[in-house]
Amino acid sequence: METIKISPSLLSADWLNLGGELDNLASWGADMVHCDVIDGIFAPNITFGMPMIKSLKKASKLPLDVHLMITKPERYIDEFIRAGSDILSFHPESSECPHEVLAKIKGAGIKAGIAINPDVSVSVAEEFLDEIDFILLMGVFPGFGGQKFIPAVMDKIDECKKLTVGRDIYIELDGGVTIDNIAQMKRRGLDAAVAGNAVFAASDPALAVKLLKA
Ligand code: DX5
Ligand code: ZN
Repeated sequence: METIKISPSLLSADWLNLGGELDNLASWGADMVHCDVIDGIFAPNITFGMPMIKSLKKASKLPLDVHLMITKPERYIDEFIRAGSDILSFHPESSECPHEVLAKIKGAGIKAGIAINPDVSVSVAEEFLDEIDFILLMGVFPGFGGQKFIPAVMDKIDECKKLTVGRDIYIELDGGVTIDNIAQMKRRGLDAAVAGNAVFAASDPALAVKLLKA
């Protein structure tokens, strides 16, 4: 059986030592680096933008899994692509032209995804199925790391799998993933998981990544 891919979220990393944290992630066996870009409007909290992605890109060989939680991502999509994002997702309801945003991402030869909030139906993905490489299924409302997983999202994994059957689209869960609940997600066919708190707050983060993947 293929193991699940783990994308640790830098939201919970030590920002005074980000270079060191990127090296840590590679040595701990992370598959990608989840970068949460929040503008304080689409979601509460303000994090970082394109210059940060550009710096992270120079400092790590791991793919950058960039999650945009910003209003009208069309304003900045070119810059996020140029900054070195390898994987880019956004929330379709945040955009006035989600198909154009996806076309730009795909046109740049990088992986495109749409993010689905806990109160948004999986059916919104239907109209994007020919344009996306993955669905980022939110297990919490976006904004902060370390929140508790919303149990009702578990069934949405099944819905995503059903919707994407026969297609080359992977499902990634973002928010509230722990060593305790990831087994159930894997049984439902989850392909990748973001893990912020579960990795960076662990007493042994290398072991945490190993256990999350096991
Ligand atoms: C929520 C972010 C998530 C979150 C993950 O706004 O999109 O990436 O920080 O963090 P944990 O794994 O701690 O829930
Ligand atoms: Zn995220």
